[in-house]
Amino acid sequence: MTRRAAIILAAGQGTRMKSGLPKVLHPVGGRAMLDHAIDAAEGLGCERVIVVVGNHSPEVRAHVEKRLGPASIAVQDPPLGTGHAVLAARDLMSDFDGQVVVTYGDVPLMKAKDVEAAFACDGLTVVGFQARDATGYGRLLIDADGGLEAIVEHKEASPDQLKVSACNSGVMAAPSRLLFELLAEVRNDNAKGEYYLTDVVALARGRGAATRAVFADEDAVMGVNAQGELAQAEALFQKVRRDDLLASGVRMPAPDTVFVSWDTQVEPGAVIEPYVVFGPGAVVRAGARIRAFSHVEGAEVGPGAEVGPYARLRPGAKLGDKARVGNFVEVKNVTMGAGAKANHLSYLGDGVVGAGANIGAGTIFCNYDGFFKHRTEVGQGAFVGSNSSLVAPVTIGAGAMVGSGSVVTSDVAPGDLALTRAPQTAKAGWAARFMETMRAKKAAKQ
Ligand code: UD1
Ligand code: CA
Repeated sequence: MTRRAAIILAAGQGTRMKSGLPKVLHPVGGRAMLDHAIDAAEGLGCERVIVVVGNHSPEVRAHVEKRLGPASIAVQDPPLGTGHAVLAARDLMSDFDGQVVVTYGDVPLMKAKDVEAAFACDGLTVVGFQARDATGYGRLLIDADGGLEAIVEHKEASPDQLKVSACNSGVMAAPSRLLFELLAEVRNDNAKGEYYLTDVVALARGRGAATRAVFADEDAVMGVNAQGELAQAEALFQKVRRDDLLASGVRMPAPDTVFVSWDTQVEPGAVIEPYVVFGPGAVVRAGARIRAFSHVEGAEVGPGAEVGPYARLRPGAKLGDKARVGNFVEVKNVTMGAGAKANHLSYLGDGVVGAGANIGAGTIFCNYDGFFKHRTEVGQGAFVGSNSSLVAPVTIGAGAMVGSGSVVTSDVAPGDLALTRAPQTAKAGWAARFMETMRAKKAAKQ
């Protein structure tokens, strides 16, 4: 296989997003659009991935540096167009001899398989698509022999050219040397005063180099320039992921109401009820059930476990086999053993709940003292009575019990009962006398 490298353009201003967040960092499926683009480049087997970033968005630079390292960053300053952006990567590519694929950081749904065909020919290949609405896209001018003559940007297109529905996805593959030679000839005498990458097609033609278009599905290569398109990309992403889950054997009676993230894993045989939202890092094992209106992020739900309705699992929540987290329970950074239960109205943060332990309604792990977080450990088979506060750091031993309403500040030994509530007193007949007096007072006033 010829060597492959990718240049991902991410230096544009993204002004049409009207957002404080740089465009390419906007998420689709909980993952930055730029990361989706990097995933695709890596999926194509590119040994080198360069991201072109602008000086105006240090966040983008920091993001790339974290994922790929500083050697993968080319800076384009100021951004003078997509052709100019690719040129910013020229120095980093000077020792590379092979095929280069240029992609855009604002095309989040594209997968390697959608554009693999672009590598199949020796000349310059552009990935196109048939647009339902071509507004804003560059049009592909294809000659009688099926060769690609040129790409005309929307703003430069004649009325006839505007009728062309074949559009440029932004993905282009070419031998690296040819690409950089052509780019050196690109001029900016056009409507936007920019150096258009798309001009290399006509220039290649002029030299007699082979140029052609291969086609991908419109939905797979849609570009995001504004919030409406971001929402559209999200909807398409969700649809694909839900369909994948259904096809794999996950039961979802109302798939359109379920939101997943790019890395959501649900094993076949799990059930996801309506209106469940998965943030990044969720894993649901076979036979588990996530009941309606639950939110699961950075958490693992073990085989046969049940969550919700109305439960929230936050990062680090790990539920063992057949564990149960019920309504209005929040779990963060807590491992729950097999069969452990917290059925109602609790906060469990930073700790561990042993197998078979029962956490009564309204129990709170008081994990935070205003400065530091502390751990709560509840042993196997322990029983924590309702409305108890476990003030961390604290350990409830295996098989121990905590009386309802207790505030537990020191460790409870295995098998012991801890009880901190005030002893109950009874005043015989007091309530009846009190009520009678009050009723009489009220009647006298009316
Ligand atoms: C571009 C294409 C158009 C194509 C469309 C597909 C050009 C001239 N036009 O138009 O043919 O149909 O994408 O979505 O290439 N960028 C830089 N530096 C710059 C300008 C842009 O890095 O100076 C980056 C942006 O961050 C973005 C990408 O290049 O990721 C595309 O730029 P954008 O301005 O969105 O181009 P479009 O107008 O959408
Ligand atoms: Ca764009």
